[in-house]
Amino acid sequence: MEEAIAVNPWASLAYLVAGVCFILALRGLSSPTSSQRGNRFGMIGMTIAVVTTLVTHAPLLVTNFAEDSYVARLDTVTLIEILVAIGIGATIGIVTARRIAMTAMPQLVAAFHSLVGMAAVLVAGAAFLNPEAFGIAVAGQIFTQSRIEMGLGVAIGAITFSGSVIAFLKLNGNMGGKPIMLPGRHVINLAVLAGILGLVAYFTQDQSPWVFWTITGLSFAIGFLLIIPIGGADMPVVVSMLNSYSGWAAAAMGFTLHNTAMIITGALVGSSGAILSYIMCRAMNRSFISVIAGGFGGDSGGGAAAAATDRPWKRGSAEDAAFLMSQAEQVIIVPGYGMAVAQAQHVLREMADKLKEEGVRVKYAIHPVAGRMPGHMNVLLAEANVPYDEVFELEDINSEFAQTDVAFIIGANDVVNPAAKTDKSSPIYGMPVFDVNKAKTVLFIKRSMGGVGYAGVDNDVFYQDNTMMLLADAKKMVEEIVKALG
Ligand code: TAP
Repeated sequence: MEEAIAVNPWASLAYLVAGVCFILALRGLSSPTSSQRGNRFGMIGMTIAVVTTLVTHAPLLVTNFAEDSYVARLDTVTLIEILVAIGIGATIGIVTARRIAMTAMPQLVAAFHSLVGMAAVLVAGAAFLNPEAFGIAVAGQIFTQSRIEMGLGVAIGAITFSGSVIAFLKLNGNMGGKPIMLPGRHVINLAVLAGILGLVAYFTQDQSPWVFWTITGLSFAIGFLLIIPIGGADMPVVVSMLNSYSGWAAAAMGFTLHNTAMIITGALVGSSGAILSYIMCRAMNRSFISVIAGGFGGDSGGGAAAAATDRPWKRGSAEDAAFLMSQAEQVIIVPGYGMAVAQAQHVLREMADKLKEEGVRVKYAIHPVAGRMPGHMNVLLAEANVPYDEVFELEDINSEFAQTDVAFIIGANDVVNPAAKTDKSSPIYGMPVFDVNKAKTVLFIKRSMGGVGYAGVDNDVFYQDNTMMLLADAKKMVEEIVKALG
């Protein structure tokens, strides 16, 4: 039956080439040195996929729909209309990408995921309303295999949509970052998930509209229910998990649309997102299942104590910092979200250059979840042309703090908080952190003692004997240090 859809061998070849480009793109993106090349491969692959789809479907777009079909009555879309839609979408994309602040990238990514989810829901909805136009039905009876694909596609798409909208609202500050715990949420979530799976199975027997739309409605609800209980510290994992879901939704819809490029791309996005989520779970010492189940990030009480300024602490000046660092043999710089906010990366590199001129060894230590998105710090340092061989991952550099003269913390907080190792009640307990407290001297840049990091907890490092607080905007403080270094 499925042979009714003629597959153009040239189209298959073009989709295969696009798929290879996407794989090369992922490979390129695995390192900052090759990431631009990776991006170019991704763009070439996507252009090939879009053009192939347009060329192979163009005749279908103007004719060929069943006379009495829903789409025919709406008058089918023409190639011009599609090109206009692509033009509008591309313009919105270009303007948004140009305007967006680097610090708002996570919410932008969440917003994009929501669009992928919604696209999957719309495609599944269109295929359900007019299955013959999609070549997935005979005499109104949708093929069993297609019902499974559509059921799963619409479910994953709807979960991705509503989950991403909540993630966007939380990351954008429109909704409190604190977890919202519904009583009995695990039971409710499990019941809704079981209901969705049961209905997808039932859909193979009965294609009544109520079954399809109930799957859709329940899936929107579970996306919402799964994400609202997730609090601050787990948000990065959630964003990458939603990325993975959006890939699987696209792959499922690729089957419905008989589009190999979509299946390949969806599977690549789905699996790379899942691998990234797993790596991030490990970096934050969270179990994958507990994050998926939702609400575990906040179980230990997001309301842990904020900075307690009544404890004694030492304040330093830019001159003190410049003197201490110029005397050091090795300085390890730990950048965090505050560096991104202040856009201090360029002047930071200038500072490092000056120190190197004075014979100081300078290294950068990057935590996997520093900032607000995976690779956030790497991107900023690369933008400032920091040499890649000076940048180290957590596990490669953490043991060096004990033999380091100065740990220079610039806008980081949670990723250097020893409570993650010592305080079981802390929301970040279990997350591996930099042992900056072991360095001979700790220089800590932040704007005020009252300000806390993402997890909202106080940090014992502020009050250590060997810590000097440099309270100012990161960029201003580093500019002054550069001046003091002469
Ligand atoms: P945070 O713990 O969020 O700390 C940021 C620090 O920067 C705060 O101490 C803040 O203190 C300071 N700061 C803010 N603006 C500043 C400015 N203009 N100049 C100087 N300092 C400034 O950052 P982190 O150590 O990078 O940790 C990341 C946290 O975000 C983790 O909890 C992580 O789980 C979470 N998170 C990560 C991601 C990803 S994927 N990376 C995504 C979402 C959430 P003041 O306000 O006093 O200045």
